[in-house]
Amino acid sequence: MLEVESLHKRFGQHVAVDNISFQVKKGDAFGLLGPNGAGKSTTLSMMTGLLIPNSGEVRLDGHRLKDEPKYLKQRMGLVPQSIALYENLTAEENLRFWGQIYGVTGAKLRDNLDWCLQVAGLTEHRKQLAKRFSGGMQRRLNIAVAMIHRPEILIMDEPTVGIDPQSRNHILETVKTLNREGMTVIYTSHYMEEVQYLCQRLAIMDNGELIAYGNLEDVRQLAGARSTITMQLSGEIGDLTRQLEHDMTFQNVQVEGDTLVFQAQNAAVAVSRAVSIIANQSCELQKIDVAQPNLESAFLHLTGRRLRDSVGEAGDQG
Ligand SMILES: Nc1ncnc2c1ncn2[C@@H]1O[C@H](COP(=O)(O)OP(=O)(O)OP(=O)(O)O)[C@@H](O)[C@H]1O
Ligand SMILES: [Mg+2]
Repeated sequence: MLEVESLHKRFGQHVAVDNISFQVKKGDAFGLLGPNGAGKSTTLSMMTGLLIPNSGEVRLDGHRLKDEPKYLKQRMGLVPQSIALYENLTAEENLRFWGQIYGVTGAKLRDNLDWCLQVAGLTEHRKQLAKRFSGGMQRRLNIAVAMIHRPEILIMDEPTVGIDPQSRNHILETVKTLNREGMTVIYTSHYMEEVQYLCQRLAIMDNGELIAYGNLEDVRQLAGARSTITMQLSGEIGDLTRQLEHDMTFQNVQVEGDTLVFQAQNAAVAVSRAVSIIANQSCELQKIDVAQPNLESAFLHLTGRRLRDSVGEAGDQG
């Protein structure tokens, strides 16, 4: 288990990370979601020993990063936000270089190297110079490099920003597979769809603080994030709207033609209640659609801002 406890980081007067704590269990895919400048990269840098926190600590299976940096660093692989490769080296040479930094040599290095190239889909390009790679291929090599020592925990800082859709899909599928095969993944992004797709647990950061943390479902439902329920009716709708409006279960009740739309905190409760109310009317239910609340609506609810709107252009640079 990886534990982050009360990490705090200031740059001058500016608090970049404000006493945040979370835990990542072995085998989890954990998402760290937040807009530009939220403090995600600063958090990852402290977790991987690249930055010293002002206070707080990081532990892996009880081993403290500040006491045993080597123990943790051997078990973690960081994919940095900006591509960090030697452009004038080939894919294979980049991997060999970083392998040796981690003390991986000989047959183990050869095995790891083949595995990393295969996972990144770069086996055929192993002899090619990194500078000849497309942005997406460089990103994939960046990921391969982070795994050359076969870490238990792969920590990725916005690995899909600024790349073509094929490379993005390749990366998402790769991460999903690695996690299924047992690798613990910490995945940072400002794309809520990616976190929803990959992660079972997550934390949302904003202005250096953790504003939500838990299972994907719990965070989605957080603090009033509501489901939207659409019911297709036939027959005489009558005073259905009025009845629903008087019931606290339903919010934002609207009827348009034969379509009834409302929102609810708990979709299951609201649907069964609406069905029983409708059963007493002279109309019939034809179709139900339930749109679950998503991370976007949770973020909106918590901060009053849209996740996307609060992301500046800097976040979209490769
Ligand atoms: N070395 C530094 N010196 C001063 N301020 C910094 C430094 N690094 C980060 N900051 C500031 O700390 C805050 C958090 O930055 P950080 O890079 O951790 O955010 P982020 O969530 O990774 O954002 P992004 O999505 O843009 O990568 C920002 O206000 C940033 O300007
Ligand atoms: Mg960042």
